Amino acid sequence: MKGKLSKLRTGLLAVTFAAAAVVGLNTTNASAALRNISKESQACLGCHKGMNPALVQQWGVSKHADAGVGCYECHRANKGDKDAFQHFGFTISTIVSPLDCGKCHPKEAKEVTQSYHADAAHFVGSLDNVLGRIVEGEALFNLGCAQCHGRTIPVKNGMPVLGPWPNEGVGRINPDGSKGNCAACHYRHSFSLKQVREPDTCGKCHQGPDHPQIEIWELSKHGIAYKAHLSEIEPTLDRAKWVLGEDYYQAPNCVTCHMGASVTGAKATHDVGARLSWTLRPPISKHKPNWQAKRAEMKKVCAACHQRAWIEGFYYQFDSLVNLYNEKFAKPAAAIMKFLRSRKLIDPTPFNEKIEWDYFLLWHHEGRRARHGAAMMAPDWTHWHGLFIVANDFYFKIIPEADAIVAKKGTRADKEAWAKFKKELFSRPEHKWFLGMPKSELRKIAEFYVKRYGETAQ
Ligand code: HEC
Ligand code: HEC
Ligand code: HEC
Ligand code: HEC
Ligand code: HEC
Ligand code: HEC
Ligand code: HEC
Ligand code: HEC
Repeated sequence: MKGKLSKLRTGLLAVTFAAAAVVGLNTTNASAALRNISKESQACLGCHKGMNPALVQQWGVSKHADAGVGCYECHRANKGDKDAFQHFGFTISTIVSPLDCGKCHPKEAKEVTQSYHADAAHFVGSLDNVLGRIVEGEALFNLGCAQCHGRTIPVKNGMPVLGPWPNEGVGRINPDGSKGNCAACHYRHSFSLKQVREPDTCGKCHQGPDHPQIEIWELSKHGIAYKAHLSEIEPTLDRAKWVLGEDYYQAPNCVTCHMGASVTGAKATHDVGARLSWTLRPPISKHKPNWQAKRAEMKKVCAACHQRAWIEGFYYQFDSLVNLYNEKFAKPAAAIMKFLRSRKLIDPTPFNEKIEWDYFLLWHHEGRRARHGAAMMAPDWTHWHGLFIVANDFYFKIIPEADAIVAKKGTRADKEAWAKFKKELFSRPEHKWFLGMPKSELRKIAEFYVKRYGETAQ
């Protein structure tokens, strides 16, 4: 091994020369730049540029290469580290965790570690976890849940074991005990700012039936304006400084609102929850701790493009929608599920009864879509993909299914209690309509259709 290494080192000058060309260092004086690269990293380059030439080229065009941060500076490890292994005379690890990046980027590492992103693998007690691991299965868990959320990475002799690895989830629990994963957003080995500011970087995870943030943004006015002006915004995306109101002004993307700095005082942050007042994920939405201050921080971003009354008006509409969902549908639906469970009319195992799937869809899919659509200005997600389906689930799935379960399995006391529950529910002003609307209202509807289409609605 030693002989091999010293032979490698004597060959370094030639390697350096060749590497400069192959690597494509983005400097006019490539060999001068390579002189910045540590001896250790030059050894890595010597082998890896032949084996993985494009990997080395990606690093070669990075700010890291310019700054003399080479392979070894990121992959180096200490002998005692769980994920360390011996590699041609060097102690390295494949995994580069927030602790490793944090040696040079402490602010970002601290904010990431504090953020919800770093906690994303902690979902073992959730219903989704039952779905992923039990209802579906372990192979799905590794390639579905864990590629977005992250998971614990077991290692053997310093190497990640087959199955869980590779993993690029945002809340990865690394062998060194750190939480989170910079590479979930910062793709190696160019670590390009242009790539990380692309909305699709967030959209890899923030999409789909239960959290369609990218779809919502794309067809909101913000997304449309962004696309329309992309050719002007694009050249700014790789700048070290990217301040709204100084470097660009045309339209906001995910990074603008959730992470970026603005000339109106919003400070750049790697804690994506720092500007959120609600959590829209659970069955019933709740305010985040210290939510007023967080909302005030988001408003600073909006203020670069909108006047105060517009922003206040937006938040009033948004809060009203969240409260409508909570009070009209989410709380009564949760109460129905509690009624059935506490009276043992459904068993404690999740997902083995149809009503459990329907309730899950109500809050986890359509209920979230309605709230997310409202948060990010997409009326179709708020209504047709959202609250419309919530209403359908509530009136035509949850209630009739509960009726059938109580009728089939309930005791007399259960039946009486259920009748009372329903009577109270349908006497509430927001649900009263279901038992029959007044004739005057019905007449208005009939007249509207005759006037507009020359025929009645039904
Ligand atoms: C003498 C040639 C040589 C040198 C020097 C070398 N490597 Fe490697 N490296 C290899 C080979 C060969 C493999 C593939 C090993 C395998 O497939 O089992 C590899 C694999 C790797 C892997 C992937 C390990 C895994 O399976 O997860 C990493 C990361 C790595 N090298 C980083 C480095 C770094 C960092 C350096 C410099 C400190 C370096 N290498 C120096 C030859 C070399
Ligand atoms: C700025 C830090 C950084 C630098 C510099 C760096 N790497 Fe990496 N490397 C990473 C990260 C992050 C990963 C992804 C591993 C993870 O998920 O933790 C990685 C993964 C790898 C892998 C395994 C994954 C694969 O795609 O096969 C290899 C091999 C590797 N690096 C080699 C190198 C070599 C060779 C160099 C020098 C040209 C280098 N790295 C420079 C951060 C770095
Ligand atoms: C040994 C120190 C060191 C380590 C380790 C390190 N970086 Fe860097 N990083 C730097 C330096 C130096 C710069 C260049 C700063 C500059 O040009 O202003 C930089 C720049 C960056 C940039 C800005 C790139 C650009 O185009 O402007 C990003 C993003 C970044 N690093 C992410 C990471 C991530 C993620 C990791 C871990 C996977 C990491 N860094 C590990 C030192 C390091
Ligand atoms: C495409 C990426 C992706 C996949 C696949 C995925 N999730 Fe998620 N998950 C997310 C995102 C993004 C959020 C946060 C959504 C939001 O804030 O609205 C989330 C939210 C959650 C939450 C709510 C967390 C909280 O704090 O309220 C749980 C629990 C969860 N997911 C578990 C799972 C499980 C288990 C699986 C696999 C069965 C899975 N997820 C599959 C991306 C994903
Ligand atoms: C959720 C995605 C995401 C994760 C995870 C993430 N970053 Fe970033 N990072 C970004 C975005 C987006 C930017 C550009 C921010 C801007 O324009 O204000 C950025 C910018 C940076 C920069 C350039 C300087 C700056 O702050 O603007 C550095 C350095 C950096 N990140 C390091 C890290 C490190 C280290 C980690 C892990 C501890 C990490 N990032 C994790 C998305 C992420
Ligand atoms: C115009 C600003 C703006 C843009 C652009 C934007 N968002 Fe949002 N986002 C918001 C607001 C406002 C909220 C709700 C804040 C609150 O709770 O007070 C929100 C909420 C969220 C949430 C929290 C959802 C939950 O379940 O609690 C996530 C996740 C999110 N956005 C992701 C994204 C992603 C990904 C993109 C890009 C595809 C994006 N956002 C684009 C303003 C924006
Ligand atoms: C690799 C997957 C992944 C990527 C990439 C990703 N996220 Fe997330 N994000 C998640 C998951 C998973 C959650 C839910 C965390 C949890 O369950 O603890 C989340 C949560 C959030 C939240 C809610 C935070 C809170 O405190 O409630 C926001 C806002 C957010 N992400 C924005 C972004 C933005 C903006 C980007 C892009 C710059 C991004 N995310 C990139 C997976 C990802
Ligand atoms: C970079 C500029 C920019 C930022 C930042 C920004 N917006 Fe906008 N916003 C726009 C543009 C452009 C439009 C479309 C204007 C029009 O309708 O003529 C728009 C439209 C809107 C609309 C109307 C949507 C519709 O469908 O008609 C609302 C509501 C809104 N923004 C709220 C916000 C809120 C709240 C924030 C902060 C969380 C915010 N905006 C941040 C530029 C921005």
